[in-house]
Amino acid sequence: MTISSTMPGSGTSREDISLRLLKGSAKKSYEPVVDIDWDAPLAEDKYFVPPQMSSLYGTPLWEQMSQQQRFELSRQEFVNYLSMGIWFENMLNQSLLRGMIHSSPTAHTTFYELTELGDEARHMLMFGRAIERVGVEPFWPTGNAARRVNAMAFVFRGPMLWIAALVGEEIFDALQRRILEDGDDVQPLVQRVMRIHVTEEARHIQFARDGIRRDVGSLSPRMRWLLANLHGLGARLYLQNFTRRGLYQRVGLDGAEAQRQARANPHFHAVQRTGFASLGDFLDDVGLMGPMARRMWKRSHFL
Ligand SMILES: [Fe+2]
Ligand SMILES: [Fe+2]
Repeated sequence: MTISSTMPGSGTSREDISLRLLKGSAKKSYEPVVDIDWDAPLAEDKYFVPPQMSSLYGTPLWEQMSQQQRFELSRQEFVNYLSMGIWFENMLNQSLLRGMIHSSPTAHTTFYELTELGDEARHMLMFGRAIERVGVEPFWPTGNAARRVNAMAFVFRGPMLWIAALVGEEIFDALQRRILEDGDDVQPLVQRVMRIHVTEEARHIQFARDGIRRDVGSLSPRMRWLLANLHGLGARLYLQNFTRRGLYQRVGLDGAEAQRQARANPHFHAVQRTGFASLGDFLDDVGLMGPMARRMWKRSHFL
């Protein structure tokens, strides 16, 4: 018998995976409050999101916009991504905490969930500070929209929570990686925030994917059908938020017309497909891409 086969964390149980992720977290985590130079000046001539990723890139409206308006749109789109990230992480943390009362407080899975919860708390702080530094108002749900976010924390449990986590995390993850790849045109602050987030989210995604792989075999056919199709609702939600009229109005454009051009923009459809590719492959792979969900992702141009 080799030593490694008896070491805790060397196997493939949920506890082993959690232990490995805990070790990874101990080795590489960030404290954005001190790890980011918040006082560094913003560059005058850099985008906040690469121009090719902008929802209006290549449209007739884009051609009419001044360079200043293009910079400004990228600033608003960046803040929109961060705002969505914060409310999603808020919902995820509520769900994690609610689930934990049903789990052993000494399980490695609980330890890892608490670690993830802490990561997300720091991310919300990092995103909030980045929005403040960038100097525009966040896009923030109020009234019924805010109540809906809170209600989601009651709905997302068990395997449903892991699917929701992936829908929330993977699309942003893919877009952030794309921002890092095209980083030359982009503000150093944006690159730093994205780099920290991508590193820590890679573990969250592994944990959620592992949870789904483990649960999928034991689902009832009804539950499986539901899980395989409900995530399609995310498509509409993303599209609505990525192309909200407020983005364009803040840049001085006609909100309705800009939204129309963005939603019909083949360049942006390609960005959306980049965002969904890895998640789509995973859902296909585990048998959780139902026909209704596929249609919804397709109709919103993620497939
Ligand atoms: Fe996060
Ligand atoms: Fe996360």
